[in-house]
Amino acid sequence: MTDPIRPMPGIMDIALYQGGAAHVAGITDAVKLSSNENPFGPSAAAKEAFKRAAESLHRYPPTDHSSLREAIGEVHGLDHSRVICGVGSDEIIHLLCQAYAGPSDEVVFTEHGFLMYRISALAAGATPVSVRERDRTTDVDSILAACGPSTKLVFIANPNNPTGTMIGKGELVRLADGLPEHAILVLDGAYAEYVEGYDGGAGLATVRPNVFMTRTFSKIYGLGGLRIGWGYGPKPIIDVLNRIRGPFNLSVAQLAAAEAAMRDRAHVGWCRDENARLRAWLGEALAEKGIPSDCSTANFILARFADEAEATACDTFLQREGLIVRRVAGYGLPNCLRITIGDESACRRVAHAIGQFKGQS
Ligand SMILES: Cc1ncc(COP(=O)(O)O)c(C=O)c1O
Repeated sequence: MTDPIRPMPGIMDIALYQGGAAHVAGITDAVKLSSNENPFGPSAAAKEAFKRAAESLHRYPPTDHSSLREAIGEVHGLDHSRVICGVGSDEIIHLLCQAYAGPSDEVVFTEHGFLMYRISALAAGATPVSVRERDRTTDVDSILAACGPSTKLVFIANPNNPTGTMIGKGELVRLADGLPEHAILVLDGAYAEYVEGYDGGAGLATVRPNVFMTRTFSKIYGLGGLRIGWGYGPKPIIDVLNRIRGPFNLSVAQLAAAEAAMRDRAHVGWCRDENARLRAWLGEALAEKGIPSDCSTANFILARFADEAEATACDTFLQREGLIVRRVAGYGLPNCLRITIGDESACRRVAHAIGQFKGQS
């Protein structure tokens, strides 16, 4: 007999999201390079604000997030009435799917795109459509070819996770121009701060009625553990998302820490510079050891191995050395390992260990 209690269509097709591993059995001081976290942590001002928030834990948080939205608006030169804040950018992605896609609608993303696009599309009852990339890079022509009357949302992470590649403004404009007018282009800027001079798509989202940008405090701001993200776009879309957002979705501690983090531009700049320096060093060190990678624009490197067996063996070797990186077979890249840019000592340890692995294989 079939169970009379059944979830909505699509829900049972969702494969559970696996976060980056954090522990290796038997090793107490393993270095975690599996979740693209900021090895330097958040700004001291954010930590102070978080501690101060302990004094008002008995109070409900504001529902309109106005103070955080104003800080975001001031720093990025954006109209704060067009900003929405959520429990990580994951929540914003989820709200977009919930509000704009349902049964018989399609949600388009690239073949090595962030896994939450598929999960959120299925959760909304919509059909996920994965589109080929070209050399692990977003291919605008493939996306446009995949769009039709049923397309409601197109998600592009720029820079992309886990490839680290990105496309330029001209290609983004071509994509926005070519989409059906009933489809929203979502530019996921989770790693935008790592790209000097890139606005994450804010400029396009300011002037286009169908372009939306998502951002996060989990990466360069070093607040992944607190769960805060934001979105910016056309006012009508913000108004829709606010109707289905939980009124108290962000706590007093999240709001206070995020605002302080946003205003500490020196910390952001320092982290960006350090990441760029260490990323270049690690990329070259791996190339010298015969491990190629695409030129990354984010805070990780996608190391390519000869085949899946070599990637798996290297992952096992690194774990024994207390280094946790990310297998990305679930992203359609079984021969690759994604390595977060850690601090200098972590980068040197990874390069050294991969050298030892290659030497013995
Ligand atoms: C491309 C991309 N988008 C969004 C997110 C979600 O970030 P969060 O929910 O922590 O803001 C991530 C996290 O890894 C990501 O890689």
